[in-house]
Amino acid sequence: MSTETPAWMADIDSAALTALGAIEAAATLATLREAEVGALGRKGNVTALMKRIGKLDKSERKAFGAAAGGLRGKVTRAVSARREAIVQAAIAAELADTTFDETLPGLDGAPGHVHPLSRVQQELEDVFISMGFSVLDYPEVESEFDNFEALNIPGWHPARDMQDTFWLEGGHLLRTHTSAGQVRAMHQFKPPFRAVFPGKVYRYESTDASHDHTFHQLEGLMIGRHVSVGHLLDSMRTLLSAIFKRDVQVRLRPGYFPFVEPGFELDISCQVCDQKGCSVCKQSGWVELLPCGLVHPNVLRAGGLDPDEWQGWAFGLGLSRLVMMRYGVNDIRLLMGGDARFVEGFHPGT
Ligand code: DAH
Repeated sequence: MSTETPAWMADIDSAALTALGAIEAAATLATLREAEVGALGRKGNVTALMKRIGKLDKSERKAFGAAAGGLRGKVTRAVSARREAIVQAAIAAELADTTFDETLPGLDGAPGHVHPLSRVQQELEDVFISMGFSVLDYPEVESEFDNFEALNIPGWHPARDMQDTFWLEGGHLLRTHTSAGQVRAMHQFKPPFRAVFPGKVYRYESTDASHDHTFHQLEGLMIGRHVSVGHLLDSMRTLLSAIFKRDVQVRLRPGYFPFVEPGFELDISCQVCDQKGCSVCKQSGWVELLPCGLVHPNVLRAGGLDPDEWQGWAFGLGLSRLVMMRYGVNDIRLLMGGDARFVEGFHPGT
């Protein structure tokens, strides 16, 4: 091996001079970043040296590689050291600023408040508690039986297509509706009983202004003797006037759900656009809010009840929709979007 200084050493020295000089000269984090990119970035001068290694003759490669690699390490350490020095200098300057009074109290954390979904849910619970209902909490991971079969929706039933599902291992699923709690409640309580069960439900679907994969419902179930559509409608009216505290137009249509007979759709006039037509009501002026009906005999049987002795009504309130209607929120994805600024808009008292 020759002891002479190889010709390429000048290139290493010159790259070092440029790179380390720029780093030393950097007075701000931004100029430091420029210097760093100028040396180590894709088109940096140190990177260019590294790229040369592969093209060199074998005899030179080792020594050149060691020199270029060494420079890269040196430049990396110089950048870190310079960054630390800039940050420390900024802190020192701030502390030296006599207008900064470190004895002043810190900023208070902004007071949090309840999410509009929880707020409306609590109000609904209060309304139902005042009417003698229990409030129940059922699992979000459900069996296929409770979510579908017990509700008169066997595997072949086309109604399954209306609720695309997140399947889990072992035949379990994320409940697609709070109705999954109906048969659980029938097994849990001796009739007559009345209960509501609110919570999150999940559907495997693409999202838009009125659909999200995760949303909230509140299910109601009343089991007794001689239960009629009259009881159902009266409870729905009480619920709506308690929540909206003003007149909203409602319309009742026949609706098909395998677990009720007869079944209804209760729609309310769109509160987002005042029936002018918007993306939430799909330009129709009406929003489906409260599907309901009399519990189907097959569901009572699945719950261990004799349909000749017991009847019931049920409803599945779209809680997310109700919140949107009440506050004029025009995109359901805002509700669960996790953006604190959205929740900030709902101060207590609104
Ligand atoms: N579970 C239904 C859904 O999510 C809604 C529903 C309809 C619930 C009618 C009910 C009912 O209790 O009676 O689409």
